[in-house]
Amino acid sequence: MLTDPSHKYRPFPPIALADRQWPNRTISQAPIWMSTDLRDGNQALFEPMNAERKLRLFRTLCSIGFKEIEVAFPSASQTDFDFVRRLINEGLIPADVTIEVLSHAREPLLRRTVEALQGARSAIVHIVNATSQAFRDQVLGMRRSEVLAMAVDAVRLVKQLTADQPQTQWRLQYSLEAFTATEPDFAVEVCDAVSAAWGATPDNKIILNLPSSVETATPNVYADQIEWMHRHIARRDSVILSVHPHNDRGTAVAAAELALMAGAERVEGCLFGNGERTGNVDLVTLALNLYTQGVAPGLDFSDIDKVVGEFEACTGMSVPPRQPYAGELVFTAFSGSHQDAIKKGFAVRQPDSVWNVPYLPFDPADVGRGYDAVIRINSQSGKGGIAHLLESHYGVVLPRRLQIEFSRVVQQHTDRHGGEIGAEALWQLFAQTYLDLAKPLRYRGHQLFEHAQGQGIQLNIEWDGEPRTLTGVGNGPIDAAVQALHCLGGAVSVRSYEERSVGSGGDAQACAFVELAAANGTTTYGVGLDANIVTASIKALISGCNRLGGDLGIMQFRKIEHAGLSADSTAASEATV
Ligand code: KIV
Ligand code: ZN
Repeated sequence: MLTDPSHKYRPFPPIALADRQWPNRTISQAPIWMSTDLRDGNQALFEPMNAERKLRLFRTLCSIGFKEIEVAFPSASQTDFDFVRRLINEGLIPADVTIEVLSHAREPLLRRTVEALQGARSAIVHIVNATSQAFRDQVLGMRRSEVLAMAVDAVRLVKQLTADQPQTQWRLQYSLEAFTATEPDFAVEVCDAVSAAWGATPDNKIILNLPSSVETATPNVYADQIEWMHRHIARRDSVILSVHPHNDRGTAVAAAELALMAGAERVEGCLFGNGERTGNVDLVTLALNLYTQGVAPGLDFSDIDKVVGEFEACTGMSVPPRQPYAGELVFTAFSGSHQDAIKKGFAVRQPDSVWNVPYLPFDPADVGRGYDAVIRINSQSGKGGIAHLLESHYGVVLPRRLQIEFSRVVQQHTDRHGGEIGAEALWQLFAQTYLDLAKPLRYRGHQLFEHAQGQGIQLNIEWDGEPRTLTGVGNGPIDAAVQALHCLGGAVSVRSYEERSVGSGGDAQACAFVELAAANGTTTYGVGLDANIVTASIKALISGCNRLGGDLGIMQFRKIEHAGLSADSTAASEATV
């Protein structure tokens, strides 16, 4: 049992920011996006990507619209160094894309980093060093002043090295690793020193990146830290304030969003939240969250399944079914009440109106998904979803009471077999339940004839495999068929009748729905499908009689036979149509 963790875990003291402004702000434009899929994401894989996979993912990132892509950590591995060289030598970097590479703040590594970038049209050198007390004491063994000096020396060296390669358009990014655990006054001191050392100006801005290298607090704490930095750093107009949230507490997206409200202008992250431990912030979610607020994200996820496929093929990771916007199930409702609400929302939705469908915060079509997956049926589903599936896949619109009746059949089926039932299996179940019934009665044909008392019908059926001819007269073909069926000895009345056409053009069929009531009060639907509307209606009657079975009383038929009466007789009982 986990009890009182207060002696073990203490929150880093939150910044005192009583007059914080970010809670009153909204995000009204997309940030500058920086994909670190090929660096932070790649560093976190079981098996880092080889050059071919990195190139494939690089192309995918470019096609999505990323203009800044961190492609490697060239001083850390020959594969990464060679990858940067290949991009440059083979001219694989689109004109509007800037590559970025990471280096620690150490001279040989910085030299190797700038060497890797030789000949690039434009490049961002990304220097990182950790600034928190824990890192200073435990990892670096340095005082604040030494860490500061290391940062400034690194920037000066890069300035000098890059000045020797003027054909490249250089930019500098400085990251304070473990920023969220760094004392704010020291964080500002480092930021100001490095921007001064770089000589940042409004025309040559430095990127100051403030990562939550490990997420340890609620997102509002991060937002306060960002707003405080936004207000306190010098040369603010010469700085692009960047954030790089990790997702240790599962709140990286929220942290990034609040940070943008607090003054950040740039976000670094990975597709689908790949990255160390629980990952970097998920840029797909962030971008599409913006989109659903009416803000153009500047990234194109209009074919999300393609992006998922490329991501999975390149990284070997998989996108879970409940991943926001991208998972297989995120636009699916199984629950009956949700399906009902969605179906109603779709029914009243006008093309080009503001999206407002219950339980569906986002139009699946915007990421290239169809509506097929929105409603899926299992034992939790209800009549609305079932009706929707039959309608959308087979064009069959069920009367409301039939929806209720058939949903019980589906429920029994899914309870018995478990799992999901797809549209095709649902249709089969519908056909087995209503259309394919051949026992005890089977329709074989009919002829209508005129009769002095109304419409006459001669109905050819099979009764348990034996052919019979029944005759009836009524006020219309259906009434006449009901009267004919009464010859079997049962009593049935028609409570409601509806017909619809299914399909279109030459393939159109009539679908008739007949709600029957037996003398004992039992009711059921019968359904008939045929190119001819009268035939469909008679088939529906016979389907209903078969479903009523014993309740209908047609078992009496045998007794009538035994009494020597012929079934080939004309009945005269009443039917309501
Ligand atoms: O998480 C982190 O702090 C990093 C830095 C290199 C920006 O990945
Ligand atoms: Zn990181």
